[in-house]
Amino acid sequence: MQKLAIQGGISLRGDVRISGAKNAALPIMCASLLSADTLHLSNVPDLHDVVTMRKLLAQMGVNILVPQGDNVREGELSLHGAQIDKLEAPYDMVKTMRASVLVLGPLIARFGEARVSLPGGCAIGSRPVDQHIKGLQAMGAIISIEHGYIHAQVPQGGKLKGARILFDIVSVTGTENLMMAATLAKGITVLENAAREPEVVDLAHCLIAMGAKIIGAGSDTITITGVEKLHGASHRIMPDRIESGTFLVAAAATRGNIVLHDTRADILDTILEKLTEAGAKIRVGKDEIALTMQGALKSVNLRTAPYPAFPTDMQAQFMTLNTIADGSAMIVETIFENRFMHVQELRRLGAQIDIEGNTALVRGTPKLEGATVMATDLRASASLVIAGLVAEGETIIDRIYHLDRGYERIEAKLSQLGANIRRIK
Ligand code: EPZ
Repeated sequence: MQKLAIQGGISLRGDVRISGAKNAALPIMCASLLSADTLHLSNVPDLHDVVTMRKLLAQMGVNILVPQGDNVREGELSLHGAQIDKLEAPYDMVKTMRASVLVLGPLIARFGEARVSLPGGCAIGSRPVDQHIKGLQAMGAIISIEHGYIHAQVPQGGKLKGARILFDIVSVTGTENLMMAATLAKGITVLENAAREPEVVDLAHCLIAMGAKIIGAGSDTITITGVEKLHGASHRIMPDRIESGTFLVAAAATRGNIVLHDTRADILDTILEKLTEAGAKIRVGKDEIALTMQGALKSVNLRTAPYPAFPTDMQAQFMTLNTIADGSAMIVETIFENRFMHVQELRRLGAQIDIEGNTALVRGTPKLEGATVMATDLRASASLVIAGLVAEGETIIDRIYHLDRGYERIEAKLSQLGANIRRIK
């Protein structure tokens, strides 16, 4: 089990390049199942979840090429979906990565059948997929749940039919799964109460480049007109807004001065607003964001909600910021039922946090003290890294495989910004 050792008390300074977005790369890789041609991707982040998705798609028959040779450029990946010979996502792969459920829509749309293990719950919640299933049934799929697998079929080997689907709850991968399924359905599909996340828009851009007819991505109503087939395309994965937000919070917490490169400010409005409210000075360029933090750090209240409101994936990071800010703050987590796993770990570092249901009251303290803590889920791990950067003395973070799922070479990037951080076996 690998760990991270962090010596706190250093202000982050310098430049850092933001990687491609994990939550755009994962659905876009699944889009390769929709076509017999080749999908060329660039700016794909080097993450454990991307490796898992490559293995999952390869075992279905997708031919995956990572360009080798001397001109290899970071993050290029080609996926060729001509010889798909297995329409199944097995439990042992799905259990490690819930996003595996994103093969369901493409498989049933192109091949009329799919068997996908029910993704188990995870640390942050039960994570049901009822909206995915309801939408596919509305499009004519016959779905049965047997032995922990979702078995989906279109009768008589036919095609899915376009349908009007109203989501009971905003679901990011639910929207993505059904948008992909609808690209090859007969007729028109309208997704209402759809997720508006930028990663949904990036997937739509890739599907449109492959020949799909989609309008309204980024709004809560997406209309897809089915086509006979999709062709190959090239697509550059959008920057990771959560990695961007994580580094900005780390810079604010350590009272540093950093510049993010290859990022986008237009999809970070609520995060930049909250950081400004906390006292940071922010300057944005075409694909850069600079943050300087001097003077007092002020507590900020926040309430998570679907995009464009404050993202749940940034809740844990801002909680750490609030533990060392002046004043008290209320944090309300409305998306997942158990996304406060980082609280008991932050308390070990001296944080003053009380929880009442889905609300946390964070009282700022002058400092945190280094200790040994345990990562429980991806974004909780990030909040512990930020806490380690500001705590007095050494912090050891255990189970950092959670971190490697969603952050590319985080200790290398933080060391580049001056942090005293090293990975230990
Ligand atoms: C996506 O998960 C992201 N993952 C999550 O990021 C992110 O936290 C989440 O969206 C919310 O923004 C990927 O994109 C791969 P949801 P997803 O379906 O799609 C309930 C990270 O850290 N729900 O939008 O699984 C669900 O329980 C990860 O990178 C149903 O009830 O989330 C939750 O309460 C963590 N039925 C709410 O909706 C369903 O069929 C939002 O879930 C689907 C969801």
